[in-house]
Amino acid sequence: MSHASALASQDVIAYLDAHEKKSMLRFITCGSVDDGKSTLIGRLLYDTKLLYEDQLAALEADSKRIGTQGEKIDFALLVDGLAAEREQGITIDVAYRFFSTEKRKFIVADTPGHEQYTRNMATGASTADLAIILIDARQGVLKQTRRHSYICSLLGIRHVVVAINKMDLVDYSRAIFEKIETDYRAFAEKLGFSSVVCIPISALEGDNILTKSANTAWHKGPALLPYLETIEVEADASGAPFRLPVQWVNRPNLDFRGFSGTIAAGIVRPGDEIVVVHSGRRSSVTRIVTKDGDLPAAGPHQAVTLCLADEIDISRGDVLCAGKAPAEQTDQFAAHVIWMHDDEMIPGRQYFFKTANRIISGSISELKHKVNVNTLEHMSGKTLELNEVGFCNVTTSAPIAFDPYAEDRVTGSFVIIDKRTNNTVGAGLIDFSLRRAQNVHWQDLDVNKAARAKAKHQKPCVLWFTGLSGAGKSTVANLVEKRLCDLGRHTYTLDGDNVRHGLNKDLGFTDADRVENIRRVAETAKLMVDAGLIVLVSFISPFQSERRMAREMVEDGEFIEVYVSTPLAVCEKRDVKGLYAKARRGEIKNFTGIDSAYEAPERAEITLDTSKATAAEAATAIVEHLKKNGYLG
Ligand code: ADX
Repeated sequence: MSHASALASQDVIAYLDAHEKKSMLRFITCGSVDDGKSTLIGRLLYDTKLLYEDQLAALEADSKRIGTQGEKIDFALLVDGLAAEREQGITIDVAYRFFSTEKRKFIVADTPGHEQYTRNMATGASTADLAIILIDARQGVLKQTRRHSYICSLLGIRHVVVAINKMDLVDYSRAIFEKIETDYRAFAEKLGFSSVVCIPISALEGDNILTKSANTAWHKGPALLPYLETIEVEADASGAPFRLPVQWVNRPNLDFRGFSGTIAAGIVRPGDEIVVVHSGRRSSVTRIVTKDGDLPAAGPHQAVTLCLADEIDISRGDVLCAGKAPAEQTDQFAAHVIWMHDDEMIPGRQYFFKTANRIISGSISELKHKVNVNTLEHMSGKTLELNEVGFCNVTTSAPIAFDPYAEDRVTGSFVIIDKRTNNTVGAGLIDFSLRRAQNVHWQDLDVNKAARAKAKHQKPCVLWFTGLSGAGKSTVANLVEKRLCDLGRHTYTLDGDNVRHGLNKDLGFTDADRVENIRRVAETAKLMVDAGLIVLVSFISPFQSERRMAREMVEDGEFIEVYVSTPLAVCEKRDVKGLYAKARRGEIKNFTGIDSAYEAPERAEITLDTSKATAAEAATAIVEHLKKNGYLG
């Protein structure tokens, strides 16, 4: 009979009560299947006897049938079996396994999938108090050991157990254990952990898991489980100032209005003063409502609805904070970003930034440096690739409420989502707000866009020409500008080739440089629209994301996308500048249409193909569009 059922049959209530009062340790195991991670988790679940009887029977049978351990139980089968079950459904990045002993409850974040993907690990680590870093005694400290340790420290884990596994395969050698311990400590010294304990184990044989093993009589330290049962980790987020990121406003009828969400940090009680970060408005808590009734107090991880004494304007995305210690607010901040996708991070590209309770547009405005996770050195770089970590400046389209990650793991972190594919591509930990954000204000001017447009008798706009090199963008734009000029309109043309001689002289043709090229020209076009001009932009502008960004920078109706859709074969045949021939010979790299992508527009206002219409006809069509839609006054 398992530990749980024995106790439960004696006195269910007493058991549950004792269970409730036990402290909780959240930990993560880092290492790959080869290091024995599955075996270790399986062993812990098995030895603490919190498996269902049928799971145990199945495990014993499976071990005999397909296990790799002869007559012994193959613990890896247990974890991998559960993982397989889970993977039949939707993929979940991290599975949280619960187990408990008489002394403590545990949640272990089990991160399936290949450990080369940092994403799963980072997700699991973000809520853990402690990490078990597994090292294969035969391999010693590897690059992945260092990467995992660095990411654990970055994500705020302060306690590490280095489980040096497979000691049975190195004859329980004290010298090998001590060498690995020395190597690890030399590296980890720079990571600022509060405690690092090394334990020689064999997950397979059970050495130093539940009790100390006679095979390692020289080991003065603890066995694994007793250590996990007793280690004191810092108090959880309940000691921090109160934070409730509002998920929704609960208003079932006119008599009730509450603000719902999961408490990120701190304790709240009726009577407490709160402040709403975005508006600065203050009130006090009257009730803490939950599905189990009103509470006298609530703390971290609890889902609650707060009622307030005053009718103040609060919506989803706001953060309710302790009146005396509100979160900060900023739209520019420095953060460590862990990149988690095969598509590289591109500074200047617009992504969604998802915080505890809102999704907001923004970009990584600058990569200050990358971190070499092996040596912890800072390296310069333009982009981040899969698994790389960088220290970045981030700009969001509106201010967010935040705390530095070191102070609050929930309000201090965000994930980055690709706008086009909706993939999660990165995770970030906020370090500090950039002061320049607070010191630069918007200056209101008396002469505004409307006044300038009126003086020019036109409605300012951007005519954004996109298409392959040689498609005819500049030729058509040139004709359109001539016609508009003849009509007495005020215009300016920003042409890719020309702008690249001045403002964008420092940029080449990598994806990152093209994104920056378009960002700068979009900002310039926006200023010109504000000046009251009709702006013609003629850039290949191959990526949908940046064209969308340019569109979103100006007001509705001010952006007219002109897709010059002339096919590649025609452009290449024309080859006015001889560049296609050079690209085919491999003399130019990253040439659009040859070895660099062109993403065609999906909703251009005007599409024209200069292999079917003449440039003059195309120009006429555009001028007609402007007339018809009231741009020419
Ligand atoms: S964009 O992709 O960043 O929008 P842009 O319009 O500024 O490109 O510049 C394109 C012009 O640069 C082309 O018309 C061509 O004359 C020249 N050019 C030089 N190298 C390349 C390249 N690798 N890919 C595309 N155009 C190139």
